[in-house]
Amino acid sequence: MQMTGNTILITGGTSGIGRGLAKAFHKLDNQVIIAGRRQSRLDEITATNPGMIGFQLDVQDPQAIAAFTARVREKIPELNVLINNAGISRPETLPGGSDLSIARNIIETNIIGVLHMTAALLPALVTKPQATIITTTSGLAFVPRNNFPTYCASKAFLHSWLQSLRVQLRGSSVEVLELAPPYVQTELSGPHQLSDPHAMPLAAYISEVMQLLADATPPDGEILVERVRGERFAERNGDYARRFAIFNGL
Ligand SMILES: NC(=O)c1ccc[n+]([C@@H]2O[C@H](COP(=O)([O-])OP(=O)(O)OC[C@H]3O[C@@H](n4cnc5c(N)ncnc54)[C@H](OP(=O)(O)O)[C@@H]3O)[C@@H](O)[C@H]2O)c1
Repeated sequence: MQMTGNTILITGGTSGIGRGLAKAFHKLDNQVIIAGRRQSRLDEITATNPGMIGFQLDVQDPQAIAAFTARVREKIPELNVLINNAGISRPETLPGGSDLSIARNIIETNIIGVLHMTAALLPALVTKPQATIITTTSGLAFVPRNNFPTYCASKAFLHSWLQSLRVQLRGSSVEVLELAPPYVQTELSGPHQLSDPHAMPLAAYISEVMQLLADATPPDGEILVERVRGERFAERNGDYARRFAIFNGL
């Protein structure tokens, strides 16, 4: 993708990977708009990155998405990059009885939120000479962990859905990219993850991603840092059973 001069909306821009990408794109002279639920974080990040814009948005709320995207289309018509990054991860023990609230929250945020945001902004993006949709999936889309069943499945859903979207948009100005992170030091599963030595440091992850984006169009539209390639290509490399067993303590 072109790395400068874009107008970029990042959902889940208030922490972790979204915040890291926001800062990196901001430094490269892009107009960056971050969205998330926590107003205090939006305020803090926009205050420390002059020119960056913050909007409160809950991607689980379809009416909020409709109002928000209408506002973006009207006030920021130059928007040409959407980064669907907001996501949640929660452990689940199956069968969990009749309470599907955890699974429902994950599906509404990680899947329906992405579908809504994309549907609402795609008509505007296709009118731009150059546009990009980046959606954050996960290495766990390719080798699941049993204690995060709906989370892993939500990312596998996105991986499949993005392939279809990419083909449907072939020949348009919209490039469809999948960002599949490995385990990274963020707050995704709680504060302990920020300093988990098994997780990739956030700054190193963002720096490798920005380099991959700048280098060339990623093969098959997938942005894969070195550390996630083993999971991504486990099936192809005949390494799936071993990795699945390690991930799941078998
Ligand atoms: N870190 C990893 O190991 C890892 C690995 C693979 C994939 N990922 C993916 O990377 C993405 C970013 O996660 P992260 O690791 O950076 O974790 P994070 O620090 O917890 O960030 C998650 C972001 O999503 C936002 N968010 C969550 N629910 C939302 C909602 N309903 N509406 C709007 N925004 C919402 C949060 O903002 P608010 O709380 O302010 O709303 C936050 O900015 C996720 O899609 C995650 O699945 C992460």
